Amino acid sequence: MPLVSMGPMLRAARAGGYGVGAFNIVDYTSFKAVVEAADELDAPVIAQVSVKTVKLWGYRAIAAWARQLAGATTVPVALHVDHCRDLDVIRACIEAGWTSVMFDGSHLPFADNLAATREVVGLAKPHGIAVEAELGAIGGVEDDIAVADEDARLADPEEAARFCHGLELDVFAPAIGTAHGVYKGEPRLAFDRIDRIANETGVPLALHGGTGLADDVFRRCIALGCAKVNISTQIKYAFVEGFAAFHATGPKVEPVLYLDAQLARLRREVAADIELFGAAGKAHAAVEV
Ligand code: 13P
Repeated sequence: MPLVSMGPMLRAARAGGYGVGAFNIVDYTSFKAVVEAADELDAPVIAQVSVKTVKLWGYRAIAAWARQLAGATTVPVALHVDHCRDLDVIRACIEAGWTSVMFDGSHLPFADNLAATREVVGLAKPHGIAVEAELGAIGGVEDDIAVADEDARLADPEEAARFCHGLELDVFAPAIGTAHGVYKGEPRLAFDRIDRIANETGVPLALHGGTGLADDVFRRCIALGCAKVNISTQIKYAFVEGFAAFHATGPKVEPVLYLDAQLARLRREVAADIELFGAAGKAHAAVEV
């Protein structure tokens, strides 16, 4: 089917109490693995791309991969740019046919973040493109954005309600204690805040920093309203280890064998996540809302 907006799939997920996996693809192989895992499990899926990766391959090339991969399956696939601070990049994604954008104004004062997010909504919505925005500051490193532990700031529920009011966001990313990258210790999530923010905003929430969270933490966050579950670092490891583990079985000068091994490893890990988030079998619910 054609690429879809992630808005309807996330509203269906929030209503149905499951999470849609949003996987940071890095190239065509990882993109193919994500779509094939979703296809195998009849699940909606979001392929998201960091700005660094967008700049490596190009807006139009990635959109062309997306259209081709989505066109080969009956499950809904959304193409999303992750943590973008640059309105020119967002405009270029919109022009190239992407279906979803995240504006990350979390480094800005509240009023500036709100104003810039409103501008992004104004750019995207007339084209039917979904918008995600962030409030508070999520710790760790994602793409070229690094937030030191001492600068990580949880989102305030009352500010979150003011931020989302009248903005028409499709998904909201409040900082709730998770971090991007590999956790240094036991992550301490503010479940009470997730609950309050989900109730006070009514918007499906994004759970950033998914890699390394325990299964029961995912389930609890999803039950509280996290409809989009972001996984990036796990994909990076699977990408490297899929290649390296195959190489360790004895070097072969046949790139296709390496790519096959990498594809299989990525597909297996993405499928396990989709099952864990409860999205298997939900492809059709995702397009009916
Ligand atoms: P991880 O790298 O911790 O999986 O976080 C992914 C993420 O939130 C991307 O925005």
